[in-house]
Amino acid sequence: MASAALRPLCLCWALGAAAAAPNILLLLMDDMGWGDLGVFGEPSKETPNLDQMAAEGMLFLDFYTANPLCSPSRAALLTGRLPVRNGFYTTNGHARNAYTPQDIVGGIPDSELLLPELLKKAGYTNKIIGKWHLGHRPQFHPLRHGFDEWFGSPNCHFGPYDSRERPNIPVYRDWEMLGRYYEDFKIDLKTGEANLTQLYLQEALDFISKQQASQQPFFLYWAIDATHAPVYASKQFLGTSQRGLYGDAVREIDDSIGKILKHLQQLGISENTFVFFTSDNGAALISAPKQGGSNGPFLCGKQTTFEGGMREPAIAWWPGHIPAGGVSHQLGNVMDLFSTSLSLAGLQPPSDRQIDGIDLLPAMLQGELIDRPIFYYRGNELMAVRAGLYKAHYWTWSNSLEEHSKGIDFCPGQSVAGVTTHTQEEHTYLPLLFHLGRDPGEKYPLRDRTRQCCSHKKMARRTQHRNCDSGIAPKMKVQE
Ligand SMILES: *[C@@H]1O[C@H](CO)[C@@H](O)[C@H](O)[C@H]1NC(C)=O
Repeated sequence: MASAALRPLCLCWALGAAAAAPNILLLLMDDMGWGDLGVFGEPSKETPNLDQMAAEGMLFLDFYTANPLCSPSRAALLTGRLPVRNGFYTTNGHARNAYTPQDIVGGIPDSELLLPELLKKAGYTNKIIGKWHLGHRPQFHPLRHGFDEWFGSPNCHFGPYDSRERPNIPVYRDWEMLGRYYEDFKIDLKTGEANLTQLYLQEALDFISKQQASQQPFFLYWAIDATHAPVYASKQFLGTSQRGLYGDAVREIDDSIGKILKHLQQLGISENTFVFFTSDNGAALISAPKQGGSNGPFLCGKQTTFEGGMREPAIAWWPGHIPAGGVSHQLGNVMDLFSTSLSLAGLQPPSDRQIDGIDLLPAMLQGELIDRPIFYYRGNELMAVRAGLYKAHYWTWSNSLEEHSKGIDFCPGQSVAGVTTHTQEEHTYLPLLFHLGRDPGEKYPLRDRTRQCCSHKKMARRTQHRNCDSGIAPKMKVQE
């Protein structure tokens, strides 16, 4: 009887939730690092709007990407699944990250269910602005995978190319190719000037206004790329940062995000719009200092599975729902944006496949801490796992000596002996263990203690000392 009495209630609640399904706005940065925001400690403090967003929302200090490279990270965000499940990995080189430049024919498989495909069922209109990076052939087009609108490009804005053998990267509006980077969409590599962030901003404002007027819920995926080398900014921002051209790009993005949030407030829909800000992977230190950002206290950068490659700046903002000024230590992942968005829309995640993302709403709304691991993949190899404050590396690698000798350095000025190795080192028999609370920069492996303990053990046997055998580790000299 109790369940019969509850049933209509549940239905009412479900209908109520569907009617109130909030708009979803994901602000995904390209190669922006954890240390690039004032609120994360960047000393020039040039991100007042993002800092304000954090003050009005919730800051996530332990938020990760699913892969330290653009394509697989984006595929993971939109499918809620690790790249080894959604196809964004390679098998033609151990621990090699996969991506989709213009000379690669692959892309997102049809069998994957993307977030916008699912949100459509709850009446959402879906738009992607900016970089897609999940394949450039027709079958991989965003409008074939749940998006209703697109303004942007299938690839990175690398170039200029010769436009014969290698054409410049195209820019699309929906199915129509509008032009190409460097030709119709200028990027001045000498001055760093480009108007693209302004175009992406205007697209976002227009789309939000249009959706508000038609009273349709929207999902907007604002995947802009000004902080990916070659970095760019429009004229009014050039030379305004203490950090150089990269900082100019960050300042323009910060200004744009401030305008987007203000637009939501002016339209009176800020309490009905869930906004999440994060980045696709760590700052590209190979491009630093002028073209790359900062990973704060963390080791190495993009392409690596050290914290600098995968820990991301992250802010959730939903006035009236997410408490202002909150700081969360929840271990989060871009894949959670898939599950959280479905939850916001009142939808269940697909049950016919493994979903790796979790619903973060309990962490955001009730301050809960959900126990879950973080997996650090590089291509097809599980390089490391984080559980709580511990991180175990099963493989270490920065990049090859051959690459390194050509000046390509994923960890400039940061080499840690036995950790940032230039050969792929296997530690599966005895993982290299770090305590990220005491050692966020991954400089002092805990294994050294065990090792010393074991060599002590041998010594103790030889010299009849008992310290180690009794299970009490002798006081070790900590490398600090
Ligand atoms: C950006 O837009 C301004 C104003 O329309 C124009 O003068 C300038 O040439 C543009 N810059 C680039 C690099 O396209």
